[in-house]
Amino acid sequence: MEQKKTVVLGVTGGIAAYKTASLASMLVKNGYDVQVLMTRNATNFINPIVFETLTKHKCLIDTFDRNFEYSVEHVALASVADLVMIAPATANVIGKLAHGIADDMLTTTVMACRRCPKFIAPAMNSEMYLNPVVQDNLAILKKYGYEVIEPAEGHLACGTSGIGKMPEPEELYEYIYHELAWEKDMIGKRVLVTAGPTQEAIDPVRYITNHSSGKMGYAMAKVCAARGADVTLVSGPTSIPKPMFVNVVLVTTAKEMFEAVRREAENADIVCKAAAVADYRPKYVNDQKMKKSGEQMVLELEKTDDILKYLGEHKKPGQFLCGFSMETENMVENSRAKLEKKNLDMIAANNLRDAGAGFQGDTNRMTLITRENETALPLLSKEETAARILDMILDQMNS
Ligand code: CTP
Repeated sequence: MEQKKTVVLGVTGGIAAYKTASLASMLVKNGYDVQVLMTRNATNFINPIVFETLTKHKCLIDTFDRNFEYSVEHVALASVADLVMIAPATANVIGKLAHGIADDMLTTTVMACRRCPKFIAPAMNSEMYLNPVVQDNLAILKKYGYEVIEPAEGHLACGTSGIGKMPEPEELYEYIYHELAWEKDMIGKRVLVTAGPTQEAIDPVRYITNHSSGKMGYAMAKVCAARGADVTLVSGPTSIPKPMFVNVVLVTTAKEMFEAVRREAENADIVCKAAAVADYRPKYVNDQKMKKSGEQMVLELEKTDDILKYLGEHKKPGQFLCGFSMETENMVENSRAKLEKKNLDMIAANNLRDAGAGFQGDTNRMTLITRENETALPLLSKEETAARILDMILDQMNS
């Protein structure tokens, strides 16, 4: 982020307020300027000092509280907010905002935030949440442009379980990231990303796979979505949680990935094939667990479909195909050969031998190879690498 974005967090009087401290911390660590407004009741659940320590700003509570970094008016914060999130939002504050009651710092400021996106994360007992009056008030807030984040189901502080739990801070953070982290320069673009390894069964207990973690492809999907694209992610088995704001298709084998990609690529403007697809699979899959016998064993393998080659041969007009290539030697030459052979527009290559590049880590050092050029990226996080790959793709599509 070039310039710090300001997130106004509204904390109201519910037990989930303690989780909002983690959200504030996450935001600060990721470079956001965080301003916290609390209701008087919220201070019964968490001390403002927690937020003040995390955000380095005074936590405003009463209408006539002053934060001298901004001017003296209570609406001053509203004019600098890039986003407002009320988490947790009680039935009381939801009701006040829906009916124009502004009787404390939080409600007056939020009511003055007319231009920036506003999120409400209700958290309360299930019966309260499902009460038609609360539901009506949420519908009013939606009508006025607030985005309501549906509470989760689970164990509630009142001892019952049901709907009403505030989503975890990581999930709330994703809403903010999605809204603010990147410029929306991919609106209207449909992007298909593949990620992760494939698994090719030998018998019911064994399979052939590779070390791909899926992190690079998941980062591509996340950044595309945050830049406004309509994203489908076809993913082999990984341990990464499903990304939000992305249509996810889970597959296991190269064959399943082929089928899914063939279908999804029909409507894609951009295809990024970050998956590490098995090149060969066992020719015969045993129905029963294979028992050990002799000293040696030979597995007969057969070639899988080269999905990317298929896409290159069936490229739609205007479609941009980006392959990925991992090499251990002659990276540029080998990758350029794949670019030609598979009829790609670009290939993002890395060398497994480079420090910081490769499968499991959170960083990468890639070289972007087009028909005319090679651009060596520095060592970057996989997310930043994804953004640079997308910059190059957009640049190439517009040239
Ligand atoms: N790929 C694919 N289908 C396959 C194998 C690879 O779509 N069956 C795609 C990968 O998703 C990646 C690119 O092809 O985007 C390069 O993969 P790689 O395995 O490095 O290239 P190969 O052409 O298989 O060449 P080699 O394994 O000999 O290096």
